[in-house]
Amino acid sequence: MDAVIKVGGSLAEMPDALKALCTAIAKLATKYKILIVPGGGKFADVVREYDRCFKLPPRIAHRLAIMGMDQYGIILSELIPDACLTEKLENVNLFFKRRKIPVFLPTKLMSQEETLETSWDVTSDSIAAFIAEKIRAKKVVLVTDVDGIFAADPKQNGSAPLLMETTVQWLLLQQKRTSVDKFLPKFLLHHPVPCYVVNGKYPERIGAVLSGQRTVCTLLKL
Ligand SMILES: Nc1ncnc2c1ncn2[C@@H]1O[C@H](COP(=O)(O)OP(=O)(O)OP(=O)(O)O)[C@@H](O)[C@H]1O
Ligand SMILES: [Mg+2]
Repeated sequence: MDAVIKVGGSLAEMPDALKALCTAIAKLATKYKILIVPGGGKFADVVREYDRCFKLPPRIAHRLAIMGMDQYGIILSELIPDACLTEKLENVNLFFKRRKIPVFLPTKLMSQEETLETSWDVTSDSIAAFIAEKIRAKKVVLVTDVDGIFAADPKQNGSAPLLMETTVQWLLLQQKRTSVDKFLPKFLLHHPVPCYVVNGKYPERIGAVLSGQRTVCTLLKL
């Protein structure tokens, strides 16, 4: 397995960019074995609103947010040519044989797993890394709407530098949120898998990451 690619929900805010990305992913899948993991996007944001309003038990909010990933995954499967939905990681190789691109729906698997904590610190980024480890993917690529991880939120601070490489330890020390979830560095510390954060508005960068070339992105190192 070459890579788990997590397609961030943030990209749905730019429909044309998301459609172009999905077409590019289909092209990449002719060369690489790729499993798509969806982000939570607006579906997870709705759960956040209900959680704020009703103070849901963390287990319930977590479950609902993961169901949001399933929903976004179903949308992605409509946008990615030759995509196929799957809830079972065992089926992934069968899809490759049939030249289909698997889009993983995580609700079922995550309801049976206890490795990851059930809190808002665990979102689709940690889940993508968890799945990458489970299927022994060579890389996990977190595709989002900015060029990678910056020293500060680039939408708030336009002069914040992009970190082309950073460490799990640096992420662990951050008090403010970054573009990846809080649990991801904790997970990578114990389950190392090369992890890249890439801007989905430039799909060629994903191609470069998959082929091992240098490109604009953030590589998370141990
Ligand atoms: N230090 C930072 N570096 C990069 N982005 C940051 C940073 N701090 C905050 N952000 C914000 O994180 C956002 C991306 O993360 P976000 O969780 O919103 O999207 P996503 O992960 O693509 O989507 P989803 O969570 O639905 O999968 C960026 O749009 C950016 O504004
Ligand atoms: Mg996110």
